[in-house]
Amino acid sequence: MKIGNIEFGNQPLFLAPMEDVTDIGFRKLCKRFGADMMYTEFVSAEAIIRNIKSTLDKMVIDDDERPVGIQIYGRDVESMVEAAKIVETVKPDLIDINFGCPVKKVAGKGAGAGMLKNIPLMLDITREVVKAVKLPVTVKTRLGWDLNNLIITDLAEQLQDCGIQALTIHGRTRSQMYTGEADWTLIGEVKRNPRIHIPIIGNGDITTPEQAEQAFERFGVDAIMVGRASFGRPWVFKEMRDYLDAASGACSETAAPLTIDDKIDVLKEQLLINMERIDEYRGILHTRRHLASSPIFKNIPNFRQTRIAMLRADKADELMAILEQCRAILKEIP
Ligand SMILES: Cc1cc2nc3c(=O)[nH]c(=O)nc-3n(C[C@H](O)[C@H](O)[C@H](O)COP(=O)(O)O)c2cc1C
Repeated sequence: MKIGNIEFGNQPLFLAPMEDVTDIGFRKLCKRFGADMMYTEFVSAEAIIRNIKSTLDKMVIDDDERPVGIQIYGRDVESMVEAAKIVETVKPDLIDINFGCPVKKVAGKGAGAGMLKNIPLMLDITREVVKAVKLPVTVKTRLGWDLNNLIITDLAEQLQDCGIQALTIHGRTRSQMYTGEADWTLIGEVKRNPRIHIPIIGNGDITTPEQAEQAFERFGVDAIMVGRASFGRPWVFKEMRDYLDAASGACSETAAPLTIDDKIDVLKEQLLINMERIDEYRGILHTRRHLASSPIFKNIPNFRQTRIAMLRADKADELMAILEQCRAILKEIP
């Protein structure tokens, strides 16, 4: 499948844009393990225009993580157009517009998923951004505002008519925030609509290789976007890719899975990357979410105490030592 001129292989797996998670260091780890497309954290159009340093820092991309999209959000046509033009100068592979963020500070002000309450404005912004830049423009959104307003089937056509080159659908409404289960049936419906010719990227609750395969098989999506399942597990893309390739016969030999040693090494590397990019203390804080969520520790007996120590450690040496203890324990478990 293709987005603009970007060619993807069979059944591509995308890393979801996630605020405070998909920084450049994490994106590169996911890339190493086979993620086919990266997105930055979302960046505010207003903040881009006002030249806010912390926002501009989020737009730093590296050639070896390509293809990479910069995701923007905002609530009016002028600022979104101006921001998109600035983003274009950074030369990402595409610009993604966020019409899906449910949090109050964004949706409450009419941006992100808030735009699901103002479809004419959403379409205006999309049309004008598409016109303003040469890069492919894509959109990420949800099924609708709430279960009484599941508008995605029509909305997908309207957005396509604005000239976007791919659409990502998170199978939840704004009201659901992140609760309940993602509903993929409407995503499948959009994909089956004969009027839709742009790639449809399905998103929501894909955490295992089996679920990824099912989502491709049952709903026919062109790509799958993986978010939270990558926390503390950037190798999830390799697990999914190896499984999909084996299932489709694309690869006759079973690829070797990562060992515990490999995985602990990856987490340590992630910590080092974050400390180097930010500083020791904040780099540790930034890595905690991943350590707290990593599935590799779940086999450690009475992990609770170790987990508390891991999440309290505020010095690199201390945290590295805890990770080494975990490695030793995990290697003893048959
Ligand atoms: C911590 C966090 C931050 C997120 N930030 C963004 C964001 O900046 N832009 C966006 O489009 N979606 C954002 N999302 C939503 C994810 O991209 C994704 O749609 C959602 O997590 C569902 O996918 P998953 O079940 O695979 O995690 C965020 C989600 C989480 C958990």
